[in-house]
Amino acid sequence: MTTLTLTRPDDWHLHLRDGEALHAVVGDTARQFARAIIMPNLRPPVVNAEQALAYRQRIEAALARAGIAPGTFTPLMTLYLTDNTPAAEIERAKEQGVVAVKLYPAGATTNSDAGVTDLLGRCAPALAAMERAGMPLLMHGEVTDPAVDVFDREAVFIDRVMLPLRRAFPGLKVVFEHLTTKEGVDYVREAEGPVAATITAHHLLYNRNALFLGGMRPHWYCLPVLKREVHRRALLEAATSDSPRFFLGTDSAPHPRHLKEHACGCAGCYTALHAMELYATAFEMAGRLDRLEAFASFNGPDFYGLPRNTGTLTLVKEPFEVPAELPYGQATLVPLAAGETLNWRVRPQA
Ligand code: DOR
Ligand code: ZN
Repeated sequence: MTTLTLTRPDDWHLHLRDGEALHAVVGDTARQFARAIIMPNLRPPVVNAEQALAYRQRIEAALARAGIAPGTFTPLMTLYLTDNTPAAEIERAKEQGVVAVKLYPAGATTNSDAGVTDLLGRCAPALAAMERAGMPLLMHGEVTDPAVDVFDREAVFIDRVMLPLRRAFPGLKVVFEHLTTKEGVDYVREAEGPVAATITAHHLLYNRNALFLGGMRPHWYCLPVLKREVHRRALLEAATSDSPRFFLGTDSAPHPRHLKEHACGCAGCYTALHAMELYATAFEMAGRLDRLEAFASFNGPDFYGLPRNTGTLTLVKEPFEVPAELPYGQATLVPLAAGETLNWRVRPQA
């Protein structure tokens, strides 16, 4: 196979940032995807409908400045759930076209300080409003208890948070974001009710050895952190299976080079530039390129209740050399696998 034409894909988990950073990265996503779910973990976070709409306008302005033709890319906005999110704000957001709400357990990751401390208690009215409105809850599925080993935080989250949440709100649509473990895969595959998961390209391609190959490699550091090989295999098996519950979410999360290569480096891998090249590499490795379209273009919109895209994207089997770095406002940005050569490239749109 030397070319692969897919229905145009969507990215169901993306960090676009704001200001100059937004301007630097938005074109990369819009060149590959028709839509993306935009994460709300700005500083300050996007906690209400008004802020989400203002952010959408800034994204649209950045798309225009990046030379993206109007109508070719649609940002799907989300709210950042807090202990104080009123049910009425969920209803307002739904009316304004916000599509989902993001749960960051307080302290779990980048800009999560305002996150949730008491999901089933203080967030119950907001969760009930989401369940009524059919608005999905997107979960950063890790506990923050410092007594729990960082490699076990996802598995423990299933028992401590996911199961009680599903019992209390069985009709709530839930997306287990950036799934990283076999336990997570088993849970999502078997769970009753409207449960799905996104999987990143980096968790399909790498295990935790990648963090330490020849020295500490901060550009492979993200949260949830890369896991053992057995988990990577389970994720690849899930992504390439015929289950419609698994779909594409890059979790592309840009940070400037100097804050990644730092004594306390930021979590996040920049993959928007070459997202489909990375996913194609992973699917080819599994011998299942035939499953890429369902994962990238069908399962996500079907779960969200949105129409599938009508355009196409073509991948060509040609070497793609990942640039060493990219401009990022006043700083620079190092993409994942910088300097390496991938076997596929996205054919630029005519
Ligand atoms: O690695 C990550 N980076 N994981 C997250 O959950 C957040 C993200 C970010 O915003 O940088
Ligand atoms: Zn994320």
